[in-house]
Amino acid sequence: MIYLDNAATTWPKPEQVYQAMDNFMRNYGANPGRAGHQMANQAGKIIFTTRKLVARLFNAASIQEIIFTANATEALNLAIKGYLKPGEHLITTSLAHNSILRPVKELEKRGVEVSIIEADRQGQIQAEKIKNAIRKNTKLVVMAHASNVTGTLLPIKEVGQLVADSEVKLLVDAAQTAGVYQIDVQKLGIDMLAFTGHKGLFGPQGTGGLYLKEGIELEPLIQGGTGSYSEDLNQPKLRPDLYESGTPNTVGIVGLKAGIEFVLAEGVDKIKEHDNDLVMYLQDQLKQIPEVTLYGAADLKQQVPLVAFNLGFENSGEIGYVLDKAFNIAVRTGLHCAPLVHKSLGTLEQGIIRVSPSCFNTKEEIEEFITAINEIAGEI
Ligand SMILES: Cc1ncc(COP(=O)(O)O)c(C=O)c1O
Repeated sequence: MIYLDNAATTWPKPEQVYQAMDNFMRNYGANPGRAGHQMANQAGKIIFTTRKLVARLFNAASIQEIIFTANATEALNLAIKGYLKPGEHLITTSLAHNSILRPVKELEKRGVEVSIIEADRQGQIQAEKIKNAIRKNTKLVVMAHASNVTGTLLPIKEVGQLVADSEVKLLVDAAQTAGVYQIDVQKLGIDMLAFTGHKGLFGPQGTGGLYLKEGIELEPLIQGGTGSYSEDLNQPKLRPDLYESGTPNTVGIVGLKAGIEFVLAEGVDKIKEHDNDLVMYLQDQLKQIPEVTLYGAADLKQQVPLVAFNLGFENSGEIGYVLDKAFNIAVRTGLHCAPLVHKSLGTLEQGIIRVSPSCFNTKEEIEEFITAINEIAGEI
C-alpha cells in the first residue's frame, strides 16, 4: 500500500514508537500516580517527561500548562465548553473542522453567540475580517492553524497580535501543524492550543492535549479519580489534575514521547522541507493533467504540505475507491469533517481528493500516484 493519508493519521510510525510502546506494555505497564511502587513511579515519570517535552515543543512557560487529552477533539471541547458562558460571543471560521464547529453549535443552543467568518473562494481568511467581527462581549476566537482540507494556513500571528492584552482569548487548533511547523505559543500570542498526537507528532491514536496558558481557568469536562487529594470528594483544583481524571492513556503517551523525540531529532523544518518537495513535485505533475482542478494556495509558504484536487466532475469518493482497489493507494476523499470549507469552495457534492505525504513517503511513490491519476483521467 502507498499510504498518502497522513493528514488523517501518520503511518507508518518511526520504529522507536513501536518499541517504546511494546516496552511499556511488557515491562512497566502499571497505573501511574496511583501507587508508590516502582512500576507505577516509572509510568508516572514517563508522563511527566512527556509533558515536559510537549511544553518544550510549543515553548510553554511551564509544564503545568500542558493537559493531556484523548485527541484534539477532546482538547477543543474542553477549551470551548470550559471557557464560554451563555451571553458571551465567540468567533470562528468556515475553515474549521467539525471538532470546533460541533461544540460551537452545541454552545449556541445554550445561549452563546457565534460568528463564523467565511473564507473566500481561494479558501483564505484575512485577520481584518476577524477584527471586524469582534464585539463587546467577544471572549474567544477559535481557529485552525491550517485547514485540513486545502492545507491553507490561517493568519494566527496577526490574530494573536489583534487580541493581545484584550479580553479576547485565542484558541488555535494545531491538529494539522504540530510537528510540521514551529509553534511558539508565547511568540504567536496563543492562549490555548489544541494538538493531536497521531498526525505530525507521529504518536499513536488516542493521544493529544491542550496548552492552557497559566491564569486561564476552564470548567473541566469530567470529574473523577486523579490519584491526588483522594480524601476530598471535590475535584482537585491544581493542574493538570483538574482536567485529567481517570487512568491516562499511558501507553499512548509513551508512544507520543517517542514520536516527539523523533520529530525533534529529525527537525521540524527538515521534515517540512521533505514533505514540501514531494508536494511541489505532485502539484507540478497534476497541473499537467487537463482534468485536474487544484484547491488551496499555490504558494507552499501559505499552506501545509498536502494537495487537494478533483478530477473533472467525478465524485472524489469514487476516485478514492479506484485508487485503493486498483492501485493500492490510500488517500482521503469526501468532506474531511469540515463541511463549511466545501461550501466556500463549492465542493459539497463532489468532495475533494486529499493527498498528504509524510517524511516516510518517497518521490517514487508520488510518481506511482501520478501514473495512477493519469490512467484514471484517461478513462473519464
Ligand atoms: C484541523 C483538524 N482539527 C481537528 C481534528 C481532530 O483531531 P482528532 O481526530 O485527533 O480529535 C482534525 C483531524 O483530522 C483536524 O484535521
